[in-house]
Formats: sequence, C-alpha cells, structure tokens
Amino acid sequence: MTVDLLLGLQWGDEGKGKIVDVLTSKYDIIARFQGGPNAGHTLEFDGIKHVLRTIPSGIFHEKSINVIGNGVVIDPVVFQKEIEGLAKFNLDITSKLIISRKAHLILPTHRLLDAASETAKGKAKIGSTLKGIGPTYMDKTGRNGIRVGDIELADFKERYRALADKHEAMINFYNVNIQYNLAELEKEFFESIEDLKKLTFIDSEEYLYQAQKAGKSILAEGAQGSLLDIDFGTYPFVTSSNTTAAGACTGLGIAPNQIGEVYGIFKAYTTRVGSGPFPTELFDEVGTAMAKIGNEFGSVTGRQRRCGWLDLVALKYAVQVNGVTQLMMMKGDVLSGFDTLKVATSYNYKGNEISHLPYNIEEENVTPIYKSFKGWEADLTGMTTYDQLPVELKEYIQFIEDELQIPIKIVSVGPDRKQTIMK
Ligand code: IMP
Repeated sequence: MTVDLLLGLQWGDEGKGKIVDVLTSKYDIIARFQGGPNAGHTLEFDGIKHVLRTIPSGIFHEKSINVIGNGVVIDPVVFQKEIEGLAKFNLDITSKLIISRKAHLILPTHRLLDAASETAKGKAKIGSTLKGIGPTYMDKTGRNGIRVGDIELADFKERYRALADKHEAMINFYNVNIQYNLAELEKEFFESIEDLKKLTFIDSEEYLYQAQKAGKSILAEGAQGSLLDIDFGTYPFVTSSNTTAAGACTGLGIAPNQIGEVYGIFKAYTTRVGSGPFPTELFDEVGTAMAKIGNEFGSVTGRQRRCGWLDLVALKYAVQVNGVTQLMMMKGDVLSGFDTLKVATSYNYKGNEISHLPYNIEEENVTPIYKSFKGWEADLTGMTTYDQLPVELKEYIQFIEDELQIPIKIVSVGPDRKQTIMK
C-alpha cells in the first residue's frame, strides 16, 4: 500500500492536527516526518481541546500506531511534559507510540543557542519559536548531532558533554546576555532521557517498509507549512526542515514512488507567525477582525498571528512543489460577516504581472493583484452538509478549485472534529 501525506500549504497553523484527527480512523499508522516541538497541532473533540507538539495526531485513536520518524527532532524535556499532559486521557502510550533511533535530540544548549542567535540578529531575527530547532538541524547536517539511538550507547554521556561544551563556547562567542543555569537544565534533560528510554525505539524505515508490505495504511503528518520549507520557503524566514512532500521521503525513508494521496491543507485566508515577507498581509481593521474571529494566536508561543487575504500565487506554488492531489480548506467560518473578500491571483513584480512565486517576495518587490468576492453573513459553524453552505462561499470555493485544478474535498467550519463538511 502507498503512503498518504498530509501537509500545510501556507506558513503553518493551517489546522493539520484537526484533519489528521478526522482522517486517522482510516489509517493504521500515523507518522511525523520533520520538525519538532516548534509545532503545535490542535485537536478538539467532545469539548476537549488539546495541543500536540511532537507526538503524532493519531494518538487519540484507539487503533493507530504513532511513529516519530528520523526527520523529527525531539526535545526529551518537552516530550516528557507532553506525555504527562496526556495522562488524563488514559491512553496506552507505550504501545501506541514508537520512535526512530535516527531522530535527533534537542539538547538544552540547542535551545540556548537558538536564543543567542536570535538575540544577536536583533531586528533581523527569524521570529523563531526558540525551541532549539535550527541549532539541532545544524548539528544534524554538520554531522555533530546526537540521535535517539545514541541513548543506548555506553558513551552517551561523554558524547553529550562534548557537544554541550562546544555549544557553550558558541554561546559565549555570540556575546549576548543569555541567563541560564546549565546544571539545572541538564538535570531535567537527563531525567527526561530516563523517561524516554521507557518508550520503544525502532529502526523506523524498516518498520514502515514491513508495515507497507503487510498492507497497513500509513499517513505521514507534516508540521509547519510549505512556505516555511528550508529550500522552498521564504528563506531565511523559514524553519530548518523540509516541510514539503520530499521531506516525508527523507524523514521516514519512504521511497518517492510509494507516495499515494497528497492532502494539502490551507486556511480560507492566510496567516503567518514570526518575521518574513507576507504579500497579502492586512494592516487594517479587517486583518484585526480575522485575528480575533479566527483566534489567531500561536498554540506554542501565544504570539498573535499576522493575517491577510488568501494568496493563490503562493498556494499554487505549494500545490506544485508538493504534488497535491486533494485540498482541504480550513476556517471557512472565520470569513462570515465580511462584505467583500479578496484573493490574490497574481503579483505585480517589479512592474510586470506574474503568476508564479518569485525569488523575492518582499513588499518592495511585490504588490498583489486581487480579485474580489461578495461575502456572506451566515454563521457556518452549525452546518453539516455542503448544500447548506452559502452560495457566495460555494463560488469562492469553485474559483479556488478552478485556479488550482485540484478538488477541495473537505471544508472545515469550526475547530471540533464534528465541524467538518465532506464535499
Ligand atoms: P523555528 O522553526 O522555531 O526556528 O521558527 C522558524 C520560523 O518558523 C518562525 O517564523 C516561526 O514562527 C515559524 N514556525 C515554526 N514552527 C511553526 C509552526 O508550527 N506554525 C507556524 N509557524 C511556525
């Protein structure tokens, strides 16, 4: 059986957690392939709201096995807190959650390095979640990292010490004022390593290969969004992993010809958290209203998200890079009550109209060209069938489908599992 992928097509926070949760009953295995605790996948069901960070969103479904793949970076301290937060749900975590030995560990000093690097950058900062993501992937590609499998080695502590000492020298080199107590951070780290050891470590590429051969259905769950991809995103204002479809191959060991459906998730408008270009960003009361109605505050950092109109130039690019086969539109309900809606269909780029995403999308290079749509008043949150949706929304959806040439299969009209309309 092929492996299906689920990816965010914008700058993250598209609502992937909810959709994985809705889809999980169809899959035997849910596998995370990149990112780490910078992610915050929010799930809502039965009046409960829960945010997952590193653990795949299939954890709440009785039958699914959840795999943390080699492409993920794990902070044992955050991970342990995440597991403790799940205690109230009485889940059998030890039998449902397995971890690749090749996943890299986030050390306390990686977090400190993240903070030092951002502080040193001043106004040019990325707006990182400061979870140590960048420094950990730097050590991975620099061939200095420590992996989950290394915990099982006799010299794990020596390896840790050598890397942490190097990090301390690097932190000093930044010459910024970062306050920390490393002894305390290390105590917490090694305690959580002991807890991590209670879980099952696997060679996840082999596990997934055998599962595929045995006919198990697998869903690869992406984190962040395509425009935050280290290669294809708005560099340098990106995260440090491949958030696009190719990342699922390298982050799980799935061969490219084994990819089946590619579910692309997008919001009916656009948001971004952190720094970086955002051509359709709104700085007026419409943007403020979107943030308020859509409750656009980061689930990891609590920061207010920047809001703007849907950008079809960027969305088309993401669809193309990922080979999306089905679209899912989230938060359609947030757009109720606006007189007019706008969608960017092309850009004015240095005096020429273009319809592809150029190298440079900063404000001084790009002005979006919009098509306007009539808004609707109706509250969508109680609607359960596509027929019930207002005609203006159906026109909005039809236009997006025509432009992207991909069907929108799900329209989400609220955060709860039940507020999901299948089309
Ligand atoms: P980092 O990956 O924490 O270093 O953050 C790099 C950039 O990606 C920052 O602009 C973050 O705000 C953004 N980012 C990282 N993870 C997420 C996410 O899960 N959702 C939305 N933005 C994210």
